[in-house]
Amino acid sequence: MPHLHIAKFKEVEFPSSCDGVSFHFIASNPNNKEEKLIATKADDVDFFLLVKEEERKTLLKTDKITRPAATHIAHKALLAYAKAAKLDILSSNVVENSKSIHLNEMSALKNIDYFTTDFKPDREVRVEIGFGSGRHLLHQVLSHPDILFIGLEIHRPSIEQVLKQINIKNIKNLLILDYDARLFMELLPSNVVGKIYVHFPVPWDKKPQRRVISTTFVNEAKRVLMVGGTLELRTDSDNYYNFSYETFMSLNRVSLHINKNRDIAISSKYEDRWKKMEKNIYDITMINEEYSQELFYDFDFTFDSVRLANGDMLKLHKNLKKFDGGFVNFERVYDMQGGVMFRLAMGSFDRPENLFVIVKDKKAHYFPIPPLKSKSNLEAHKLLNKVLHG
Ligand SMILES: C[S@@+](CC[C@H](N)C(=O)[O-])C[C@H]1O[C@@H](n2cnc3c(N)ncnc32)[C@H](O)[C@@H]1O
Repeated sequence: MPHLHIAKFKEVEFPSSCDGVSFHFIASNPNNKEEKLIATKADDVDFFLLVKEEERKTLLKTDKITRPAATHIAHKALLAYAKAAKLDILSSNVVENSKSIHLNEMSALKNIDYFTTDFKPDREVRVEIGFGSGRHLLHQVLSHPDILFIGLEIHRPSIEQVLKQINIKNIKNLLILDYDARLFMELLPSNVVGKIYVHFPVPWDKKPQRRVISTTFVNEAKRVLMVGGTLELRTDSDNYYNFSYETFMSLNRVSLHINKNRDIAISSKYEDRWKKMEKNIYDITMINEEYSQELFYDFDFTFDSVRLANGDMLKLHKNLKKFDGGFVNFERVYDMQGGVMFRLAMGSFDRPENLFVIVKDKKAHYFPIPPLKSKSNLEAHKLLNKVLHG
């Protein structure tokens, strides 16, 4: 994660700008005085820079929830802030003119907004979830130039590695997204996906709710699959295999193929590791046998006027509100000039989303983007609206 270690944090004037980066406001956390967020805009992307005061130095980095997909934007913003505030940089992993990212890589790297508004596939789509080193994904992409691939990963170094390969090999049929696959499926149109690969997902034996495979996930996967389309799960964990088998069995109109120690055209990094350890590899292929209805969304994520006083909103820190099937957790509250900001976890228990909400002059809005259009997010939004409306 790009960061600067600085001797002492200094504020710029808000709003102000420097080297094409604008800084809109600063929000402080009354429950953790060492932490501040700076609302920043660079290359048309809104996000927060996070200030964390440590014992002898201060850390300035991008906030994890809103961080821009392209690292060079984060680099540019950090350096612009340091310059504008005349910060004394002690150490950093940020390089000047770090726009090493090539045009090809830029157009392959999409943010979630692209899939909520602009994604209209005109050919078969295949999706790989948690592509890691990208060995399997790149093999598929190069073997099927007429198919559009989407690679999902949440591990930034893996994403950067694959983006470099996209550039070197001049790949045009792959879109990369840094996003939680558990939330992503709901954004795809029905019946457009030929194959979904989930190879060696993290087993999360102690926190099964974090697993990629869940009842909601397999239902959404079935909806987006064409008739005859497949979801291929490979795992070395018999626990995960058993759990997934049960989960797939809850679906109607699918067939399941089970294999043990099947070799496929390309072996991933993890697969090689497990093979060397002579572990068994389990393989479930779910074949969809049914055409699915298109989804029609009518989601409204706007707020009524806020009636709670700023002081009362600040007291919502760590407050958890539940509804049937989901929750809103006010993880953090921030104080900002003329208003309050919340960092929330909300939605369903197995696929919560992290979001920011800014309340100023009795008006509330999500920053920088509203929640994903899911039923549980809409329920969570209604509950949040009720809490703020009083
Ligand atoms: C054990 S690795 C396997 C990587 C690769 N598929 C392979 O076989 O070598 C699991 C990968 O899934 C990614 N991952 C875990 N949870 C994810 C999620 N919810 N959405 C997208 N990727 C995820 C991790 O970052 C990690 O790179």
